[in-house]
Amino acid sequence: MFPEIERTLFTKHQIATRVQELAQEIVRDLETDLAKDDHSLQDENRVIIIPIMTGAMIFVADLIRELPVKLSLGLTSVRSYPGASISSKGAHLESDLPDNLTGKHIIVLDDILDSGQTLALVKAIILKQKPASLRLGVMLDKQTPRTIDVKCDYVGFQIPDEFVVGYGLDYDGYYRNHPEIVILNQAAIPKR
Ligand code: IMP
Ligand code: MG
Repeated sequence: MFPEIERTLFTKHQIATRVQELAQEIVRDLETDLAKDDHSLQDENRVIIIPIMTGAMIFVADLIRELPVKLSLGLTSVRSYPGASISSKGAHLESDLPDNLTGKHIIVLDDILDSGQTLALVKAIILKQKPASLRLGVMLDKQTPRTIDVKCDYVGFQIPDEFVVGYGLDYDGYYRNHPEIVILNQAAIPKR
């Protein structure tokens, strides 16, 4: 489908299995949190999942369908890799965060943790609203020297410090629809 792909890091099957495992971890944590609030998984409006668009869309679409929990979605959009860049240019919020997070159980989900700027930014803004709990999850955790200390509660896979695409992750807006997580052959990408 894409000749410019060098190799596959995670197949569809590996991704699906890991997403199911993450969903089980999330459900266990929510059961504990909601029991403390005297609520059940099916009680209204306690759990809000915040996908960081656009990269998290495929991961979140798969994950939430494995969560037998009453929840709502609150999208936000953060940009850090403008256009054809393969290193972070600093995180900028491109849309407001939901403003109804006080007292709720919030799970922020992103495709990948790289420098940590994106999740640190979103976390700081959400904490100002005093949620009942805040957890962070990513499909991928890139093993890169990090000056920002953000701990993710849910991590799909650790990956080496390489630029990856597929399963929602893009290069210059493309490859998000590739069903596997793959490494691009940089030499095959047209220079602009
Ligand atoms: P951070 O703010 O440096 O942690 O970067 C996180 C954001 O950068 C993610 O939400 C992705 O959108 C993007 N990103 C980081 N690494 C990659 C990659 O290897 N491929 C595609 N996008 C990436
Ligand atoms: Mg992103």
